[in-house]
Amino acid sequence: MKGMALLFVSAVFLGALAVASAGNFYRDFHITWGDQRAKILNGGQDLTLSLDRASGSGFKSKNEYLFGRIDMQIKLVAGNSAGTVAAYYLSSQGPTHDEIDFEFLGNLSGNPYTLHTNVFTQGKGNREQQFHLWFDPAKAYHTYSIVWNTQRIIFLVDNIPIRVFNNLESIGIPFPKNQPMRIYSSLWNADDWATMGGRVKTDWSNAPFTASFRNFNANTCVRAPGSSSCTRTDPNQDSTWQDQALDASGRNRLRWVQQKYMVYNYCTDVNRFPQGLPPECKRSRFL
Ligand SMILES: *[C@@H]1O[C@H](CO)[C@@H](O)[C@H](O)[C@H]1NC(C)=O
Repeated sequence: MKGMALLFVSAVFLGALAVASAGNFYRDFHITWGDQRAKILNGGQDLTLSLDRASGSGFKSKNEYLFGRIDMQIKLVAGNSAGTVAAYYLSSQGPTHDEIDFEFLGNLSGNPYTLHTNVFTQGKGNREQQFHLWFDPAKAYHTYSIVWNTQRIIFLVDNIPIRVFNNLESIGIPFPKNQPMRIYSSLWNADDWATMGGRVKTDWSNAPFTASFRNFNANTCVRAPGSSSCTRTDPNQDSTWQDQALDASGRNRLRWVQQKYMVYNYCTDVNRFPQGLPPECKRSRFL
């Protein structure tokens, strides 16, 4: 019990550090669709996306990133959010694109959201892992982070690692390292599949649905559009992400999340891969 409390205290503390130099939504993002449904508020400190019967909405980053630590605080659609999906991801362009995904699948009131994750390399995904969370992600803001360096990708929730995708180029698995990515986010209706396999439909009497974003922070390498050079955004910023790996406590946390909260893992879905599980699955229980 004591260990658990400490774990959470240190997670909150690190979370506070990570957002110390928050970005500005006007400066860093474009609204990409949904007209007035996407709003930047409070001088660029907050952004909200909404969804009604006619449309959802979305935004993307102005910059492209090649490696970094990217944090965003998100508060999801509250109440009956069944059928809604909020996506927050990094992606490059084209048929051999790379992508690192968080997707939040809504649910009926009182039922847990599903946090869906995936990694695409060279256009190939099929690496889903899904989680329930240890809190209600619609009650308050929580921090969702991606650490992406040359050796691994770490997905974190409130600074607790939930998933690691290691660089296994040595055994022939492509790793995202050449294609800069933008951040994308959107809120849309996917009641044909999102909640309990599409059996629960969106209740439009609750619309518009709203998800809120704040305290974006990118400790990264930035490429301005059209430029080939890549520079740290701020020379004073924390660069520990560059060789970040899980230490013993990180591995313990990851194990805790994967044992208690993981609800789907492609690496254990033998029916889906009759020819054998993907090669990265054999390397570690914690991919
Ligand atoms: C919704 O709640 C049900 C019942 O608790 C759960 O099985 C399911 O994973 C939840 N998430 C989605 C997206 O259906």
